[in-house]
This record gives sequence, C-alpha cells and structure tokens, in this order.
Amino acid sequence: MPFAPKLTAHGAAIPAIGFGTSRVEDARAEHVATALEAGYRHIDTARKYGTERAVGEGMRASGVRRDDIFLCTKVSHEYLHGADFARSVDESLVALGVDYVDLLLVHWPEKNTPLAETMGALAKAKRQGLTRHIGVANFNIAMLDDAMRLCPEPLVTLQVECHPYLDQSKVIAACRERGLVLTAYSPLARGRLKDDAVLAEIGRRTGKSFAQVALRWLMQQKVIAAVPRSSNAARIAQNIDLFDFELSDDDMRRIGALKRPNGRIADPAGRAPKWDM
Ligand SMILES: NC(=O)c1ccc[n+]([C@@H]2O[C@H](COP(=O)([O-])OP(=O)(O)OC[C@H]3O[C@@H](n4cnc5c(N)ncnc54)[C@H](OP(=O)(O)O)[C@@H]3O)[C@@H](O)[C@H]2O)c1
Repeated sequence: MPFAPKLTAHGAAIPAIGFGTSRVEDARAEHVATALEAGYRHIDTARKYGTERAVGEGMRASGVRRDDIFLCTKVSHEYLHGADFARSVDESLVALGVDYVDLLLVHWPEKNTPLAETMGALAKAKRQGLTRHIGVANFNIAMLDDAMRLCPEPLVTLQVECHPYLDQSKVIAACRERGLVLTAYSPLARGRLKDDAVLAEIGRRTGKSFAQVALRWLMQQKVIAAVPRSSNAARIAQNIDLFDFELSDDDMRRIGALKRPNGRIADPAGRAPKWDM
C-alpha cells in the first residue's frame, strides 16, 4: 500500500497527499474510509463543505487510528471575528466527532475583519489544544506576511489552488523561503487536465495516468502537499500511487510550460485577494 512522504514545517509533519472532500455528494463516509484504506493519512475538509460529519464517520469506519490521521478543517470567512471563530471550531469538532484537528485554516481572507483579531483567534485555538497546527488559505503573499507577523503562533501552510494550468511559481517560492508547505487544492484542475496532450504523452511513457503525472509534478517540487478529490475507488487509489516513478527535468519543464493566463478556477468576486502572478 503506498503511503505519501511527510513534509515538515515549523513542527508539523504533513503527508504530501491528502484526500479532498469538498463535494457533499462525492465525499460520503465510504469514500473517506476507502481513501484511508488506500493509504491516505491526510484528510482535507472545511466547515463550509458540509462534509465534516461524513469525514468523521469515514475515519471511524476505516479502523485507522485517530492519531495516525492528519485532519484539516477550515473556518469560513463569515466567522473570522473572535467569538464566531471559536464557535465555528467547536462546531467542527462536534461534527467530526474528534477532540482536536491537526490543522486549522482560515478558509478565505475577509477585508472587514481585522486580521490581528482573526490571527489571535487562530492562535488561541492552537493554545487550547483544539488544533495541533494552524495556517491560512487563499491569502496572497503580502497577506501571508501580515498573518505571520500578527499571529502569536507559527503558521505551517498556505493552501491555494495549484496545478499545471496555473502559474503559482511566485507563491511556491514564497512558501519555500518562509519554511511553509504549500497545500495544493484543485490539484487536478477539477477535471480540466484530462485531455491534455503533454500529460497524456508523459503518462504513456511512464505507464501512469494524466492525473498521476500532474500530481507527481507537484510532489517533485518538494514543498507541495496536494489534496485531490475523487469518488471512485480506483482513482482514489491511483492518486496516491505516485512514489514509484520519477519525472525527468525535461518532463518537469514541459509540464511547467502548460500554465495559461485563464488557468485559475477559484476566483470569487469580492472575496478573492489580488493574486500574485
Ligand atoms: N481552500 C479552498 O478554498 C479550496 C477550494 C477548492 C478545493 N479545495 C480542496 O481541494 C480538494 C480538491 O479540489 P477539487 O475538489 O476542486 O478538484 P480536483 O481534486 O482538482 O479534481 C476533482 C475532479 O477530478 C476527478 N478525478 C480525480 N482523480 C482522477 C483521476 N485519477 N483520473 C481522472 N479524473 C480524476 C474527479 O472525478 P471522480 O470523482 O469521478 O474521480 C473530480 O471530478 C477539494 O475537495 C477540497 O478539499 C480547497
């Protein structure tokens, strides 16, 4: 059974492949249990997804020990004031049926809530033992620096959209320089990579699927953990079976050249920050 290596950041050891659970219809308890049985030890959920209850049920059904699983959830942008934040964390723990999560993230930034207040609430959740580690998602580099400066506890990851069609080289470099793991969401560009000729050609040569080639490209950057989602047992298993082959420098360059100006998928008007390009 393949296990993903762990990436370290400020005391956290994050399995480099996690299981994404953003769609209620595709993230039922049996999918989560299937992922854990296939070797995943990192699960990505969020209060907003409505999948925390299924994630908890799947974790218990799998028989994998709680402390062998790296569990991440997120606080939504509507809950970033101190008291709301604490309530959201409590609700997450109840829905998941756990005493703590391994990683708690701010899901999206929110202009009208002082960042210092949110970072104080995030650090407090860690100090209370409700989460082992903390981080942010969908922040640009300047906002990440503000968050790191204002947060009394170290951040371990920035979670952002990251796949071959989106140029995230600046953000990857920023995470590397700051000793953070970049957690790549929508790492398969939500299905958009499936007819890509370059990924298909490299896949034919290496005996892997387009998805495995795309995920391996992320893995070989050494600072990226990816959280692909699938509701199909064979594809769930495929997406962690990445550690018995290697892309050449030329393959890495060719996949890096697939980036395109309209490659970004998650860009909600009014909420998205000015992205680093
Ligand atoms: N922080 C944030 O704001 C944020 C935003 C978006 C996502 N996320 C996280 O990132 C996770 C993953 O992103 P995502 O759900 O947007 O999309 P994704 O993982 O990039 O793509 C999922 C799609 O790819 C298909 N797929 C998966 N494995 C495949 C394979 N081996 N071969 C062919 N097709 C495959 C799935 O279909 P099948 O089910 O049919 O396999 C599904 O339609 C989410 O579930 C969530 O946990 C976070």
